[in-house]
Amino acid sequence: MPRVIIKLGGGLITDKSQYKHLKAECIEAVVPIIKDIIDSGHSVIVIHGAGSFGHIESRKWGLADGCNPDIEAEQDEAVTKVRSDMLELNHHVISVFEAQGIDTESLPPRNWAKGVGISFGGDLAAFIRSPSDAIPITFGDVVDIPGEQKFGILSGDHIMVRMGIELPDVIACLFLLGDADGLMDGPPWEPGATLIEQWIAADAIRASHDSDTDVTGGILLKAECASMIASSVEQVWLLNGHKPKRMLEVVLEGETVGTKILN
Ligand code: IPE
Repeated sequence: MPRVIIKLGGGLITDKSQYKHLKAECIEAVVPIIKDIIDSGHSVIVIHGAGSFGHIESRKWGLADGCNPDIEAEQDEAVTKVRSDMLELNHHVISVFEAQGIDTESLPPRNWAKGVGISFGGDLAAFIRSPSDAIPITFGDVVDIPGEQKFGILSGDHIMVRMGIELPDVIACLFLLGDADGLMDGPPWEPGATLIEQWIAADAIRASHDSDTDVTGGILLKAECASMIASSVEQVWLLNGHKPKRMLEVVLEGETVGTKILN
């Protein structure tokens, strides 16, 4: 069965500037289109980001850099807090799917992944489902790292890379953004920023979007991750999450408004 992997960016589902500010209406607009994708015979996997449920506290306590012996006790508290905040966000996301009649199974990375970056350890087999099964949902998370570092932040974008490359039958990987139609040639809030319709990793872009708040790398990380997937998957796109029908256009027609990532 053709498989579609969708990342709901933290900037789409939360207001990144306000601690734990959910944008429920954005999740509610996306889920019916995901249902259309499932109903058209696709297995779907959903990964969501953290936004203000993860980045603010993680940045404050340097969680992406691992254990700092000078503030270990505070960091331990922050790890517990971010994990609990992420679970709270995950419950919000899941409740929207359940409300629209879609069965889900939550698979938090803290329970199955170790290490960060694209070479994290963890078995992805639990994500291989058929369209009639509950759809697996996971997210960017604080995960354990063996050794002195103790913990780190595993981005949902890195999970996308591994799934896109390693799982069978993946026909599309879609990254939904909260602030733009796709990759722009400059910060999206600047007048004159225009959409890059096709992007290949060799093309430089100006760092933009959320680099001030993100602990995991913002739009550049997404573009780089997407480009790694494009070597194995035909349809890899950065899309405007506020125009969710574009996901369906990619899946059914292979064409839409957004940035198609080329290999
Ligand atoms: C970050 O995950 C996880 C935490 C900060 C705990 P992502 O990198 O996938 O999140 P977004 O999409 O940038 O918010």
